Amino acid sequence: MALSISIAAAQIPSLRTVPVPQPTGLDRYVRDNAALTALGKALFWDVQVGSDGQTACATCHFHAGADHRVRNMIANPHSVAQTAVPNRALTLADFPFRKLVNPNDNRSAVERDTRMVMGSAGVIQRKFMDIVAGNGFDDGSEEPGLTAFAIGGVKARQVTARNTPSVINSVFWVVNFWDGRASSVFTGGTPFGPADSEWRAAVLRDGKLEREAVRMDNASLASQAVGPALNDVEMSYSGRSWPKLARKMFAVAPLAHQRVSPADSVLGEFANAEGNGLAPERSYEALVRAAFRPEYWESGELDADGYSQRELNFPLFFGLAVQAYESALISADSPFDRFQEGDASALTAQERDGIRVFQGGSECHECHQGPEFTAASFTNVRGRGGRETATPATLGFFRTGVSPVAEDLGGGGKDEFGNALFPRAAGNNARGVFKSPALRNVELTGPYFHDGSQATLEQVVAFYGRGGDFPGDGNLGPGMNRINMNANDRLAIVALMKALTGESVKFERAPFDHPSLCVPVGHAESAPGVLMVDDSSSATRFSAVDRWALVPAVGREGNSAPLQTFEELLSGIGSDGSRAHAMTESCEPPPASRP
Ligand code: HEC
Ligand code: HEC
Repeated sequence: MALSISIAAAQIPSLRTVPVPQPTGLDRYVRDNAALTALGKALFWDVQVGSDGQTACATCHFHAGADHRVRNMIANPHSVAQTAVPNRALTLADFPFRKLVNPNDNRSAVERDTRMVMGSAGVIQRKFMDIVAGNGFDDGSEEPGLTAFAIGGVKARQVTARNTPSVINSVFWVVNFWDGRASSVFTGGTPFGPADSEWRAAVLRDGKLEREAVRMDNASLASQAVGPALNDVEMSYSGRSWPKLARKMFAVAPLAHQRVSPADSVLGEFANAEGNGLAPERSYEALVRAAFRPEYWESGELDADGYSQRELNFPLFFGLAVQAYESALISADSPFDRFQEGDASALTAQERDGIRVFQGGSECHECHQGPEFTAASFTNVRGRGGRETATPATLGFFRTGVSPVAEDLGGGGKDEFGNALFPRAAGNNARGVFKSPALRNVELTGPYFHDGSQATLEQVVAFYGRGGDFPGDGNLGPGMNRINMNANDRLAIVALMKALTGESVKFERAPFDHPSLCVPVGHAESAPGVLMVDDSSSATRFSAVDRWALVPAVGREGNSAPLQTFEELLSGIGSDGSRAHAMTESCEPPPASRP
């Protein structure tokens, strides 16, 4: 493989030296970047985007850009061996999901293998009926015909089929998602780029409303952002459309049920001094008008279905705004960066040794190189194009034997239109490949791997030491079968990975400050494993009652306590207030339906 050059430690520059990729042709649509970022931050954190009026992007991305919950997070509760009641809090003892008698030998006897996949809880499955004017929740019906994600016959929040990665530093990816399906080319309506040739923006030219195709490069985050809002596991009741979501959002106050700190680095100046959300004059409509050129929203004409121009263009606004916000979430202030910038005392001797081992026999650098610590970033991919033209390995996608190929094809899968994700991959060579994740802030973002099967960095390193769990079927990328680390090397690599945690991320200082968020943390039980039914309305009568935890609002100065790591969450460390996001304080969410 072309990637096997050993770069000397001094040559891994600080992330601050890496230019931030810019989407092409943004000026065609955008007139004010600050307003665009504010709109994006509001949309990302606003629970009203979800059909239940309770689910934001941030619901799964609130903790160092990733998720930090341990109840009802199992994607395949029914295939799970009795060991894991899906709604109970996972503990350290549940990990790794595949446990070997000798963890250093992948042919050793299997002590247990639950085949669990840990994802993130989204919405309860319901059929979308309509929006409810002025409300954050949609009307959803509990059609008996729907295949429910249910525990003991009671509908629980559905769980995504993969582990949630962090949105921090995601602007450096050429393509997003574990399988790369969020195209680097944004075409306005779906994540799939050129494979989706349908969507057209409505633009006013010479007094006439015309339709035009959208095509922007370096815009994988915009492609990604238009996926979850209509996805019927993550945020939406089945069958909702963009213009309906637009109409809802234009009629509600931004972040109406959430606190915004007056010291918020982006939204602070718009915050409502009196109560929740933004000041009344900062409606979504006002933010759209401020951010985008008038020819994309000023027409009063309605289309055949009765939708206005600004409603029709909502996915374009949504994608570009969220992308702008996420592009600002760059974490480059770790001890490692300070060391590379010349502060010799920023790393301990062991952490420095970690740099050496990382680039030596451990083979980690084969797939996690450069200042982003991944082969899948712009720095490494340089000009090879996107998924449509490149092969998986040149884009930084590899096999590491985390799960059997047939259980998750990764980059070997198809998009919603039936096209191969990597059309240029010869034979089967995209089957079982996953995007090589960046390792920054990884200390805070457990569990690890696309299936969330490992809880600690020590477990991840042991996984590599044994050459992966499922090496069969050619399931191993470059370097994987010659990894060589002694006990000290392993400790040094773990220490190095922990020195990649950004200070601002750790304390949620700007740009990582945010509004408050009430997140569902599993369901209430009447007896162990028996979910209580929500009989508060006819729309919820087959659904489980949620439990809630508060993620408090924070301003640009950040928290005084560091974020809790996943390992600490599993073992209860920090619930005394010594860690932020210990998930112990309850909260009252907005209603999910009419009473
Ligand atoms: C229910 C949980 C959930 C919600 C809600 C959610 N996400 Fe995610 N997000 C995920 C999961 C799971 C993945 C990985 C999916 C995959 O790769 O197949 C992901 C992946 C991503 C990625 C790609 C990161 C990478 O490394 O490839 C970005 C960016 C992202 N989400 C942003 C968003 C935005 C923006 C929204 C709202 C519009 C959102 N997410 C809503 C769970 C969620
Ligand atoms: C062949 C390429 C390759 C090599 C070599 C490699 N990795 Fe990885 N790494 C990956 C890929 C691909 C994933 C995602 C795998 C998955 O989830 O299926 C990953 C995932 C990870 C994760 C989990 C990150 C997360 O957010 O879930 C960590 C930590 C990690 N690698 C560290 C290391 C270390 C340390 C080494 C050296 C001992 C190493 N890797 C060697 C490609 C590689």
